[in-house]
Parts: sequence; structure tokens; C-alpha cells
Amino acid sequence: MLCIRLIWLPALVMMLVRNVTSTVTCDIPCLEQDAIYPHPTDCSKYCHCSWGTPYEKTCPPDLLFNDLYKYCDWPENVVCSSSSTTKSTVTDGNTSELTAIPTTQYQPPKKKVVCYYTNWSQYRLENGFFPENINPDLCTHILFAFAQIVWDPSTAQYHLATYEWNDAAMYNRVIQLKTQNPSLRVMLSVGGYSHGHEIFANASKTESTRAAFIDNVIIFLREHKLDGLDVDWEYPDGSTKSQFSALLREIRQAFERESEEAKQERLLLSAAMASGGWVINIGYDLPAITPSLDFLNVMTYDYHGPWSVPQVMRHHSALYRSSIDEIYNIDWTIKKYLAAGVPSSKLVVGIPMYGRYFIMANPKKHDIGDPFVLPEEQTYSSMPYYKICEKRKLPGWSETLHPEHQVPYGWYDDKWVGFDDVSSAQRKAQYVCNQALGGIMIWSLDCDDFSASYCGEGKYPLLSKINTVLETCSGSS
Ligand SMILES: *[C@@H]1O[C@H](CO)[C@@H](O)[C@H](O)[C@H]1NC(C)=O
Ligand SMILES: *[C@@H]1O[C@H](CO)[C@@H](O)[C@H](O)[C@H]1NC(C)=O
Ligand SMILES: *[C@@H]1O[C@H](CO)[C@@H](O)[C@H](O)[C@H]1NC(C)=O
Repeated sequence: MLCIRLIWLPALVMMLVRNVTSTVTCDIPCLEQDAIYPHPTDCSKYCHCSWGTPYEKTCPPDLLFNDLYKYCDWPENVVCSSSSTTKSTVTDGNTSELTAIPTTQYQPPKKKVVCYYTNWSQYRLENGFFPENINPDLCTHILFAFAQIVWDPSTAQYHLATYEWNDAAMYNRVIQLKTQNPSLRVMLSVGGYSHGHEIFANASKTESTRAAFIDNVIIFLREHKLDGLDVDWEYPDGSTKSQFSALLREIRQAFERESEEAKQERLLLSAAMASGGWVINIGYDLPAITPSLDFLNVMTYDYHGPWSVPQVMRHHSALYRSSIDEIYNIDWTIKKYLAAGVPSSKLVVGIPMYGRYFIMANPKKHDIGDPFVLPEEQTYSSMPYYKICEKRKLPGWSETLHPEHQVPYGWYDDKWVGFDDVSSAQRKAQYVCNQALGGIMIWSLDCDDFSASYCGEGKYPLLSKINTVLETCSGSS
């Protein structure tokens, strides 16, 4: 239980499909099917090769394309080097020469494995989870979920604060893992679905509320020896969209200033991002927020659940579309972010370490698209992977792989569960490699079979497989 992360309001589930096409193409050869290259003549533009066609994209106002990191960046970080040499080589069509030119030969960074740690897993009666259960070699970033924003009337400022009596001690126990893996980064995630929207809206309302809050964030993070902040605002809307952009931009600027002044490694900044088109369209100004973020953790799960309308069973984290379900899948969401100009290297794809179950209306009808009924009592609809391993051993269990969605689902008694197993986690990781994305985020560590006591697949079967696949792809380009 309690692997739940967010609940979609049925209203949010209305997604808008927008066909993003671009007629202007860049005058460069696409050396790779899907990749981003500098524009041959204009530093404020770049070329996005999508399925081999080089589309011309323009950076937001005041930003220039940074070829080293492949995103639109503040001008001071960019060496603007488009030259006639580049251009003539390009129009020449001699690709071997093009790759040989620049000083900015791109080395793909190691893929990120972003692991959420939850503050409540310690209280779980069965299979309780503690920081010492984390294998620090399987994550590049650990995000401690969650901290909250509180209003302090004595200073009239918004602050970061812990939730649990022992959170600060828990931060420290997670940070201790850096002795085993010095490149591990431990960040604090603020917000989450249950923290709501309003407190973020309040704290980011004006330049002065933001400035005070950001000062307090830096003090809090440094005091607890944390490496950065993950903003989990669920969700900005039309009226707070620009506040969200301003908040992230000012946090990033403050982190950079502080790093210079204190001569310390800069604090990192990420955000948990929606997977549904409705929030993406209404709440996010992606060209404005992307330069502020080190990476975007896309919550590509919970697409479906007992809240879904119509009441038919569907997988909550399909990899691809199907003939009956076009837009609730990872591939749709990721393409939407890419089409908005978010650099692939900043996109971190969420893989759930849990399934979502339904009560079947008719136990003989157990296909995707068959009806479900709501339970009489409100219960959790999420089931951790280790628990699914228990169910998989039941004599009444059956399961199958959905050929289009490329994810498994199973059924027993009156229950139906859509989940991820080792092979679907492998396929999703391979997708991240093929699309040259930034890496994978998992929600959450405690839901995998971390102790190898349930699945017979070794410790952390899902997370280990993800690491294995990403290691093979990060070296090659
Ligand atoms: C492209 O440039 C390379 C290196 O200058 C040269 O060896 C090769 O012959 C050229 N290819 C074509 C098709 O012009
Ligand atoms: C953990 O964090 C959540 C916020 O996400 C908070 O509501 C809760 O009180 C904390 N502790 C437990 C035991 O859930
Ligand atoms: C946000 O601000 C409004 C107006 O000052 C206040 O009424 C409300 O309680 C605040 N909400 C939160 C969650 O702090």
C-alpha cells in the first residue's frame, strides 16, 4: 500500500491533442534520426531532427542555443560560434567534415537514475523501508519525498519545513550513502499531490514572497547538507503559470549566485512534471521553465485508475498507444514535451514500481477496455511490485502482455491489475536509450522487491534491470 503518488481529477483527464507540425526545415543533414543540432547560421535557433527531418526551432526570447548541453540557455553561458565555415560545410552535404569541426563535440552524459524515497515507508508494518535499504549504486539522484511549504507569521515569510519528527535524521541517513557512492546527489522534493496547489500559488505570488521563500530554501538545504531541490507543484494552472516560471527562474538564479559566493557546488533544481496534455497545455510555459531546470521528472504513470471515465480497465503506465487509447501513454507524453522544444537530454521518464488495480465488473471479462466497478469502501488502488509478485504465485492468477501498449496486466478473483515487470521496465529503459532521453525516474524505492524476499528475481529486480539497460546505452551515441 501507499505507493500512490497522485490522483488525476477526472476533469484533468480531458486532454487536448494538438498536431504539432513545422514546415520550416534546417539546412543540415540529420546524422541521427532523432537529435538536436546547432542552427548553421543563427545562435538563437537550433535544428531538431525528428525521424530524419531537420525542423528549425527558435529559442525563447533572450536565450541562445547551448550546443554543449543541447538546450536554450542564458547568453552568458553560450559561445556563439556559427560561422560561414559551418555553413558551407553543411550546404556541401559532406557529413564527415561536419562531425569533425567543432570544439563542442557532444559527449552524452551518463543517464540519470532518479529515485524517490518516501518519508512514510518507514511506518509500513509489512516490509518497512529505511535509508539503509537503498543501494546507492543503483541511483544517481535520490529525491527525499516530501517536504512542505509553511507560512511563518513571525517573519511573514514562506519556509521549507519537514513533515515527520525524524525527517532531518532521515535526510542524514540518506546522505550517509554518499560515502559508498560519492557521485550520488541527494535532493529534497517539496510538495506532492496531497500538499496541494494553493500554498505554492501563495508562496510564489509576488517577487518579494518568492525572494524570501528562495532565501529560506537555500538556508534549509545547506543546513541539512542537501544537494538540491525538486519542485513538485501539482499543478500550476492558467492563472499561476507565469508564477511557476518566475519561481523556477529565480530559484535557479539564486542557486547560481549562492554557488559563486559560497564557492560550493551549485544546488540542483528539478521539477516533477505532469504527463497529461491538459496540465502541460494550461499550466506550463515549457520554453520559459526548461532553461531553469537541470532535469524534468515526468510522472508518466497514473494515467488511469478508479477515477477514470469511462469506467473501463486500462493500464496506468502504457509505453505506447493502442487502437482504443491514443494519448494516455509514455510515448505520447514524451513526444509532446519534445515537440514543445524541451531537449531530450533533460527529460527523465517516470517508471512506477507499482501497479494499479480495478475490481472487474465481470470476472470473465478481463481485457483492457472491459468495465470495472467501484469498491464499496474507498481503498487504495495501487499495489507495490513486491506485492504483485505474491499475487503472481496464486493458483488463480493469469497474466498477459498487451501487444500494443507493451506492458503486462494480470487478473485473479475479482481483481485486475496493470503493472510493470522486469521485461516492461527493460522495454521502457530501451525506449529512453533509443530516444536519447536524460534517464529514468522511479516512484518509489520501497515498492520494488528491495530485499529479494518476494519475487525470486534478486534484490531490486526492476531498478537493477533499468540500470543494466541504461549502462549499455549511455556510452554510445
Ligand atoms: C568529405 O570530406 C572528407 C574529409 O575532408 C573527404 O575525405 C571526403 O572525400 C569528402 N566526401 C565527399 C562526398 O565530398
Ligand atoms: C510524509 O509526508 C506526507 C506528505 O507527502 C505527509 O502528509 C505525512 O504526514 C508524512 N508522514 C507520514 C507518516 O505519512
Ligand atoms: C493563501 O492565501 C490566502 C489569502 O491570503 C489565504 O486565505 C489562504 O489560507 C492561503 N492558503 C494557504 C494554503 O496558505
